[in-house]
Amino acid sequence: MGAPLLSFEGFTLELATASGWLRVLDGIDLRVGEGESLALVGESGSGKTLCAQSVTRLLPLHHARCTSGAVRLSGVDVFKAGERDLRRLRGAVAGHVFQEPAAALNPAMRIGDQVLEALRLHRPSEARHAEAVRWLARVGIPAPEDRARQFPHELSGGLQQRATLAIALAPRPRLLVADEPTTALDVTVQAQVLELLAQARAELGMAILLVTHNLGVVEGIADRVAVLYAGQVVEHGPTADVLARPLHPYTRALVASVPRLGQATDRLGALPGSVPAPGAWPTGCRFQPRCPQARASCGEASPPWNAARLAHGARCPFATEEAAT
Ligand SMILES: Nc1ncnc2c1ncn2[C@@H]1O[C@H](COP(=O)(O)OP(=O)(O)OP(=O)(O)O)[C@@H](O)[C@H]1O
Ligand SMILES: [Mg+2]
Repeated sequence: MGAPLLSFEGFTLELATASGWLRVLDGIDLRVGEGESLALVGESGSGKTLCAQSVTRLLPLHHARCTSGAVRLSGVDVFKAGERDLRRLRGAVAGHVFQEPAAALNPAMRIGDQVLEALRLHRPSEARHAEAVRWLARVGIPAPEDRARQFPHELSGGLQQRATLAIALAPRPRLLVADEPTTALDVTVQAQVLELLAQARAELGMAILLVTHNLGVVEGIADRVAVLYAGQVVEHGPTADVLARPLHPYTRALVASVPRLGQATDRLGALPGSVPAPGAWPTGCRFQPRCPQARASCGEASPPWNAARLAHGARCPFATEEAAT
């Protein structure tokens, strides 16, 4: 087997803070092959965005350092690569779509020109303009000719997010990194944007790293799910398996909190508390202070990876035992 398109290999990340370097990601192991789709899920503060930003090292080096392991994208060790190599990777190999479309767009540039810029076509011509318009049409923007000439503030949030998707897709990246691409949008538009992602993946054969706090949206989009908690992967497996038979008590709480039709809830099951911040991670299992099944030993040593099922494991020694009850 060749090297995967993207791999996190025991990746440990520290950020510069006023009180020194702070460990924010701890030994992340993940792989995404060509054409594959992986969802990263977890509550606010679990480390999802930091993982997404590490793919093409969107974090400045004076502020972020990799203290062990590596992130490799298309064979390049991104925390060792120079700016030139990274610029080549960004856009062409990995495109990004973010939570806030307005912040990702250049407010002073017409939408069509932003698509051309992504295509590195800096001298607009009629043919090139037509190419930009085709991408806007492809992501379902009505009247793309007119929209191409408009500025971001003239578009609704949903259309802005479609435009950022057109900008990310136009260079035909091998990987699309989408960090909460639907969170800022209203519910019907959310479904449309997710549908677009699935469609673009099928048409372009690209891989997807989808970041979401909502396990409810991963079915039909992601082949596999990785659950993040306090800077670590605590469960990883095929999507259907993770949803139907979650191993880790944390994942079970996430699955239980997925809103069912007609029942609005964004509470995490009956779990009190929140993800501990970097610097405040408890010893032993980081979830143990909130875990309904915690035992005395859970606070002692960091739990090893429990490869409980085929391609499906969790960072909990009691995973299968508890899951069976
Ligand atoms: N520049 C920074 N300096 C210090 N701590 C940071 C910095 N950026 C992020 N963190 C902390 O790292 C942790 C993980 O942040 P991250 O943004 O990856 O979370 P997330 O899972 O994306 O959450 P959300 O769902 O809210 O977007 C958080 O506790 C956050 O406060
Ligand atoms: Mg985030």
